[in-house]
Amino acid sequence: MTKITRVWLGVVVALAVSVSGGLFAQAGDPQRAVDDAYQKFRNLKEGKNADYIPALAKVDPNLYGIALVTVDGKVITAGDVKTEVSIQSISKVFTMAQVVQEQGLEAIEKRIGVDATGARFNSIIAVEGVRTVVGTGAPEMNPLVNPGAISATSMVRGSSADEVWNKIIGIHNDFAGRSLSVLQDVYKSEADTNQRNQAIGALMLAYGYIKDNWQQAVDLYTRQCSIGVNAQDLATMAATLAFGGTNPVTKKQVMDPSKVPGVLAVMATAGLYDDSGKWLYHTGLPAKSGVGGGIIAVSRSLQEIIVAILFVAMFGFGPFAGAVTLAFATIGFLSKLLAEDIEDIDPAQAEAIRATGASWLQWLSYGIQPQVMARLIGLSLYRLDINFRESAVLGIVGAGGIGDTLNTAFARYEYDIAAAVLLIIIGIVTVAEYSSGLIRARVQ
Ligand code: DON
Repeated sequence: MTKITRVWLGVVVALAVSVSGGLFAQAGDPQRAVDDAYQKFRNLKEGKNADYIPALAKVDPNLYGIALVTVDGKVITAGDVKTEVSIQSISKVFTMAQVVQEQGLEAIEKRIGVDATGARFNSIIAVEGVRTVVGTGAPEMNPLVNPGAISATSMVRGSSADEVWNKIIGIHNDFAGRSLSVLQDVYKSEADTNQRNQAIGALMLAYGYIKDNWQQAVDLYTRQCSIGVNAQDLATMAATLAFGGTNPVTKKQVMDPSKVPGVLAVMATAGLYDDSGKWLYHTGLPAKSGVGGGIIAVSRSLQEIIVAILFVAMFGFGPFAGAVTLAFATIGFLSKLLAEDIEDIDPAQAEAIRATGASWLQWLSYGIQPQVMARLIGLSLYRLDINFRESAVLGIVGAGGIGDTLNTAFARYEYDIAAAVLLIIIGIVTVAEYSSGLIRARVQ
């Protein structure tokens, strides 16, 4: 994932997680997951600044930060998440959101289309190649490539450029949960050098995607691309999509929940243009990149407490439902992280054992197991901590555990018992954390 990020300049990564997502949910400790990801990729030096917009060539390529915002509004960060960079193409998502909010999902589908072009973001050949869907006449393009994005900007309603701009910046502010502003140096630099986008704008007018003032559309598009955002803003914007259109930090509803899946669908199929397939293949997440260096990804997944509710419905109240939940989560957690580990196995070492004529079991014991053992022990201890914590929480939904006792104590107004249980929970978690921390340090 971050390889691609760094190709796109390597400045900021923003993730948003619904409930709390994917690997992060399973890890149960998002701060540690973000820190690990940060450390893992901090020395990656692939890619280079985009320089066709001169101001972007001057951005410090060593800026690097990761922000994760959950739908309960938690903000988890690592590295530089405060320095602003220009939002660039990530803005296409939010201008699309404005059009969809204002005019419905069909408006975008009919005028621009929602199909991947399989071409670069500013391809003109792709415009020439656009076909229309037989019977509907809807073009097979999308609002995340430049021609579609400039057309989407032209669709935002308003009787003057100012009125349109206020809507565009307004929706970006609402998604980010703060008042953003245009980075004037980037805007000027792009406005002076965006002849290709001007050509695309004129072409889109000629082909009927833009109905009137193409120059205004290109100018407003250039402005929206120059909005300054930091990694935390981007993560909050993505989290608003993850949370069905409501900003999880400000709690403001920015979009109708029913319209969000349409936006995520186009992000999944076209968010990284001609690399969208590769991206989705590796991450499975709808995402959007920008040449300013940012990238957002949106993840939705089930939190353990929801899984526990399902198992309680299936097996009834009691510790069995809790145990199944934890087993389910543990298997998912270990298999996902071990799968990553297995990718890193040195095949030469395993081959050397096989070359001695070793049996399958010996090959596994001497060629593979030593390479994954330390990590397996580390992950198991880590998961044990999480299971301690989770078992306390799962009882609250009737899946057994000490949380069940806590719940009952509250229900009976037995606050002394409740306080004692809370102290026990805190004690167990602290001791478990401390001792597994010590063991982990030894193993590593
Ligand atoms: O229109 C452009 O060329 C830039 N303002 C935006 C391009 C961009 O971010 C491509 N996406 N990753």
